[in-house]
Amino acid sequence: MFAKLTTRGIASRLSSMAQKTQPKETSTTDTSRSEAVFAREKKYGAHNYHPLPVALSRGEGVHVWDVEGKRYYDYLSAYSAVNQGHCHPKIIRALTEQSQKLALTSRAFYSDVLGEYEEYITKFFGYDKVLPMNTGVEGCETACKLARKWGYVKKQIPENKAKIIFARNNFWGRTLAAISASNDPSSYEGFGPYMPGFELIDYNNLAALEQALQDPTVCAFMVEPIQGEAGVIVPDEGYLRKVRELCTKHNVLWIGDEVQTGLARTGRMLAVDYEEVRPDILILGKALSGGIYPVSAALCNDEVMLCIKPGEHGSTYGGNPLGCRVAIAALEVLQEERLAENAFKMGQLLRTELSKLPKDVVSVVRGKGLLNAIVINAKYDAWEVCLKLRDNGLLAKPTHGDIIRFAPPLVITEAQMLESIDIIKKTILNM
Ligand SMILES: Cc1ncc(COP(=O)(O)O)c(C=O)c1O
Repeated sequence: MFAKLTTRGIASRLSSMAQKTQPKETSTTDTSRSEAVFAREKKYGAHNYHPLPVALSRGEGVHVWDVEGKRYYDYLSAYSAVNQGHCHPKIIRALTEQSQKLALTSRAFYSDVLGEYEEYITKFFGYDKVLPMNTGVEGCETACKLARKWGYVKKQIPENKAKIIFARNNFWGRTLAAISASNDPSSYEGFGPYMPGFELIDYNNLAALEQALQDPTVCAFMVEPIQGEAGVIVPDEGYLRKVRELCTKHNVLWIGDEVQTGLARTGRMLAVDYEEVRPDILILGKALSGGIYPVSAALCNDEVMLCIKPGEHGSTYGGNPLGCRVAIAALEVLQEERLAENAFKMGQLLRTELSKLPKDVVSVVRGKGLLNAIVINAKYDAWEVCLKLRDNGLLAKPTHGDIIRFAPPLVITEAQMLESIDIIKKTILNM
């Protein structure tokens, strides 16, 4: 359609389109600006999400503001990517400064930042090496490739026979490999054929794991320390310790998917720290950039990492100077502001207060640190609860119909926590 237009023609056309769709100045109770945002996304964007109707234009710390200027507590934190709070000044500074020097080299060349980041993050988490990627799902996919390669090179699994075991109700993204590991029809249905060599066992079931690991073609077991998207499912105490033990016993790599649970979210730097165990491959994403830029990583020791040779894996943006600077700053913020400790303390306060809510509305409260969920009684609609929470100034999103995740940024203060708890209480008591 634009083929016959000159550059100037395109500019004037785009500007007149913008004017047509630009909502008029409104008072704060008028929602026409928000309505215009919803309508434009609906018209021009794929319908692959079902967002809560709120149109945001600004964020700072634990708060976000909509286009009408109304302020909300962000109780989702972009699915735990914004652990350090929205637009953390230190991370923004790192982004701004590096973006003016060098943003991307690709891995065809060295940069003066990548090595510094690699040294920093490997020492931070105690692994020999890191493989930098961008999104969480790429980090997970990288871990699967590392595990398969190790399976062939080190475990001598016959060619193309390597299996990876996953826990039922896992979620690690939307690529074909990720949905091949999913048992949720809304993730996989209509997208086959699926990746072979993936098997599922029940989460939190050690007998099933022990059984699955008997198969000598298994190279890895990939699992979330707490299943986030499944609705914040916390396994029994001791589960992760036993996973470690069984994987070691059967010469199988344990892949810890800490994309959502990691980086102070659950009240420890990593959720596996609660049981003082360490996966063979650790996957991080989301808050590794504090929500500023897509940065993910797979970390492991040389025995596994060096199985992949030059040219066998990579990404144009993975390990770029901008992402590396942002990630260093994001990790420093977690440490300097003691966000794991704060998440632990604030999480206890939140769950204690939520547990006092009437059981006929909120039947279950669960979680660790600031990764929490409530289960709404079947008499009520979790979506309706989220709409009312929004009206009262707090944003949260239902998952699996009746579960609402409560995961605010970890920089939340006690006063803010109490204020947001009041909003939740007021909302629930008026259902
Ligand atoms: C545990 C876990 N792994 C991986 C992912 C995928 O991350 P991304 O959406 O950045 O690809 C997610 C996303 O929610 C997740 O929760």
